[in-house]
Amino acid sequence: MAATGVLAEILDGDVYKYYADGEWKKSTSGKSVAIINPTTRKPQYKVQACSQEEVNKVMDSAKAAQKSWAKTPLWKRAELLHKAAAILKEHKAAIAECLVKEIAKPAKDAVTEVVRSGDLVSYCAEEGVRILGEGKFLVSDSFPGNERTKYCLTSKIPLGVILAIPPFNYPVNLAVSKIAPALIAGNSIVLKPPTQGAVAALHMVYCFHLAGFPKGLISCVTGKGSEIGDFLTMHPGVNCISFTGGDTGIAISKKAGMIPLQMELGGKDACIVLEDADLDLVAANIIKGGFSYSGQRCTAVKVVLVIESVADTLVEKVKAKVAKLSVGPPEDDCDITPVVSESSANFIEGLVNDAKQKGATFCQEYKREGNLIWPLLLDNVRPDMRIAWEEPFGPVLPVIRINSVEEGIHHCNASNFGLQGCVFTKDINKAMMISDAMESGTVQINSAPARGPDHFPFQVKPTKSIQLVRLIDIMVDG
Ligand code: G3H
Repeated sequence: MAATGVLAEILDGDVYKYYADGEWKKSTSGKSVAIINPTTRKPQYKVQACSQEEVNKVMDSAKAAQKSWAKTPLWKRAELLHKAAAILKEHKAAIAECLVKEIAKPAKDAVTEVVRSGDLVSYCAEEGVRILGEGKFLVSDSFPGNERTKYCLTSKIPLGVILAIPPFNYPVNLAVSKIAPALIAGNSIVLKPPTQGAVAALHMVYCFHLAGFPKGLISCVTGKGSEIGDFLTMHPGVNCISFTGGDTGIAISKKAGMIPLQMELGGKDACIVLEDADLDLVAANIIKGGFSYSGQRCTAVKVVLVIESVADTLVEKVKAKVAKLSVGPPEDDCDITPVVSESSANFIEGLVNDAKQKGATFCQEYKREGNLIWPLLLDNVRPDMRIAWEEPFGPVLPVIRINSVEEGIHHCNASNFGLQGCVFTKDINKAMMISDAMESGTVQINSAPARGPDHFPFQVKPTKSIQLVRLIDIMVDG
């Protein structure tokens, strides 16, 4: 997609245009926002700094487009989504290249993000046709005191204009996770991509543009949070906000008013390891779960809670695997790549220094060059250390030694976060009981936390899912 024809349409000089009313536009603000390449730490791209006036226009056209889209037959909505999915997958290489340069995602993972996003769009189209095509039929005489004199038909109706705000770590996948379900359900979308990841998101929106959705149904506004952030989230034209990110979600929920909010605000995903666990399996999953994309996943293993009697052996196994992780640029598909920004790297360093001062055992020497932080396992972490509770969003993993399962569950549940967790044991009864006791939206048994496959539930209360990934193997292994 990085071909000249496309760039001519979505670029103005060296600044990417924003998307509104079915057109690629230059902001009248005359200002742009620079996107810094995390690896080179130099400006890589520029996007438009949209004004509040432009946001107002986007909201007006999103509202108008939604009215007729809601009347568009479900099968037609699905057809367009399938088309967008196919175009997205065709353009995987160009979009992945943006992910490599904007957020330092390793090259192969960047391609995977685009492909799984296309698959998710198609899946939403298929499921949407079924789910939205059904309703309920009630009769009055099932309620005390009533004769069969009334019937009630229920069906699902769209909310209106959905404001979608995805995070930097999955600017394509977590954008389409909001866009596709909203569109199939008859809503319109205003997308505010993260600054790091905005260009990948604009390329993704270009695929939806090519698919031929009606004008104004999908918009993508870029700009400074200080100028349009609150303005968007408090805008009276917004009927629902779907946000993934950090503490900003708390501020949004206070300001948004009486509209539905869908929030995913981080995780301190705990990994509880019992004495009977297959420690090679645990070590492999800690590496995959804790260090892939340098720990910048909401589902990354963020604290290991291991029973003291097996802790030495587990730490040695993980240490040996950490030593084999490749560290370097995302273009080389290294396991560990620079974290997204200098401020992230500084934050991670702050957690490491705090742990050092308070006596954690460093399994490797702490090393940092620019935004690149070498993978680090911290053993003997105690609850008075910040890293026991805070989310580094980087390649630094704390190990807390516990004397009982109850202690592990207590630590997990004392956390402010409740996204995912995992438990490793060969005893399926214990695994189920511990999963049930962990106050996390999803608990994986004998596998690292992960969102995918993308059609699995990914939420906290009121739904909980326990994923029995390795159940068959446990039963076979005996
Ligand atoms: O960071 C949040 C992502 O949705 C996690 O997805 O588990 O596939 O990396 P993942």
